[in-house]
Amino acid sequence: MSKEKLVIFDTTLRDGEQSPGASMTKEEKVRIAKMLEKMRVDVIEAGFAIASPGDFDAVQAVANTIKDSTVCSLARAVDTDIDRAGEALKGANSSRIHTFIATSPIHMKYKLKMEPEQVLEQAIRAVKRARGFTDDVEFSLEDGSRSEFEFMCRITEAAIAAGASTINVPDTVGYGEPGEYGAMFKRLIEAVPNSDKAIFSTHCHNDLGLAVANSLSAVMNGVRQIECTINGLGERAGNAALEEIVMAVRTRKDLFPVETGIVSEHIVPTSRLVSSITGFPVQPNKAIVGANAFAHESGIHQDGVLKHRETYEIMRAEDVGWNTNKIVLGKHSGRAAVKARFEALGITFESQDALNQAFSRFKELADKKHEIFDEDLQSLLTSASSESTEETYILIDVESQSRSGEKSKSRISLQVEGQDMEAHAEGSGPVDAAYKAIESVVKSNSDLLLYSVNAITQGTDSQGEVTVRLERNGIIVNGVGADTDIVVASVKAYLHALNLLSSPGRSHPQRDGV
Ligand code: KIV
Ligand code: ZN
Repeated sequence: MSKEKLVIFDTTLRDGEQSPGASMTKEEKVRIAKMLEKMRVDVIEAGFAIASPGDFDAVQAVANTIKDSTVCSLARAVDTDIDRAGEALKGANSSRIHTFIATSPIHMKYKLKMEPEQVLEQAIRAVKRARGFTDDVEFSLEDGSRSEFEFMCRITEAAIAAGASTINVPDTVGYGEPGEYGAMFKRLIEAVPNSDKAIFSTHCHNDLGLAVANSLSAVMNGVRQIECTINGLGERAGNAALEEIVMAVRTRKDLFPVETGIVSEHIVPTSRLVSSITGFPVQPNKAIVGANAFAHESGIHQDGVLKHRETYEIMRAEDVGWNTNKIVLGKHSGRAAVKARFEALGITFESQDALNQAFSRFKELADKKHEIFDEDLQSLLTSASSESTEETYILIDVESQSRSGEKSKSRISLQVEGQDMEAHAEGSGPVDAAYKAIESVVKSNSDLLLYSVNAITQGTDSQGEVTVRLERNGIIVNGVGADTDIVVASVKAYLHALNLLSSPGRSHPQRDGV
């Protein structure tokens, strides 16, 4: 059976970033975009250019860096948004403007306060304006899965006639059910007279845990683009997970009439990178990228796999990038070997100075830890970007004392806005004591929403990666920190979160209407 192409549109950097606390810096977005490009993602939605100057810069930086994937910016169906998106994408080899307006009765009446005719006119105007910047324009019917069919047909036909080459019908609120959502696409494609001039697309949210099922059902009914994110990151319960979509289509090639161009071996390293940058840990039993996804616990299963792998395994772990974390480097490795390994992970250095800094971080780690894995190298860079010297709070030193049956004690030296400070505190454990010591100086007035520790690699000398989520006045941030000493990692993560809170441009942007 000859296969049609399924376009993979990744929106980790846009919808993924809308997860509370998952904001990313420009540099972090570029790092993730490079991995997505290496994985051969077709379209990378790099952000929402009008949302903030930081978003604009990030879209521009991704557009100027990425050569092989199309780079896209989101824009509401208004002139200012579209012009800003067009401006940010100027440097791209291949660019797309993704413009949207809500089409469901409930959104038009209560959110937009517009009549359907006005929405239709605004959609046409937006698509035409976007075509002034690029030939590749996508139009989304926001809350499409709850829209009236006749109106969907009219607006879809008009958007295609105005020049949209992709029509996306999102399940914005995660309300769809696979049979119904798939059937809707079939009807729509049949009913719209010019539907052959566009690719139809899904964008599903996971509120009922059906995002991947809904997306795949749409593919069975004529859709040829799926919008998805790494690890299923995204607004509320997240979006359809890229790794699940790609591996479902590949593993069940007997069923699906499509194929993707994704190089699946990069899936796990990219998942790790996104998790360490955003501070959103991957649950162990998560399909494809969870630590247990290929682990067999029951004796019967282990016995079966040893006798014949396919008895219990439908995919090979190495095909999605597991088991590639061989010991690659150690304390005797030289600069050239370290540079080469970074490059193999898609990480290049803009200057000799940047390489030197990464190399000296590598040496520090190699002194503490025997074997350096790919995950360690990635986390070195994540820590480097979260510990910039321009930050308000800089860790100088931490000392902790613990003894069974006694309270732990902590002494912390910090630089706060350039001034050296020291604090002492006791706590129920060493992390509690360290956080109390920091708070006695900083008085952040924030709430700790989450504290989690994960081992980055195997072995007791593994670096612990800590995520700390703080909230203050409705702003939520995630701090991350890694170290072979988990108290130090915890302090780094806490200070990272405090630095994000004290730098408003880096906290999560509020986006009207998305
Ligand atoms: O969920 C949604 O409807 C969106 C659109 C902007 C595509 O994210
Ligand atoms: Zn969305």
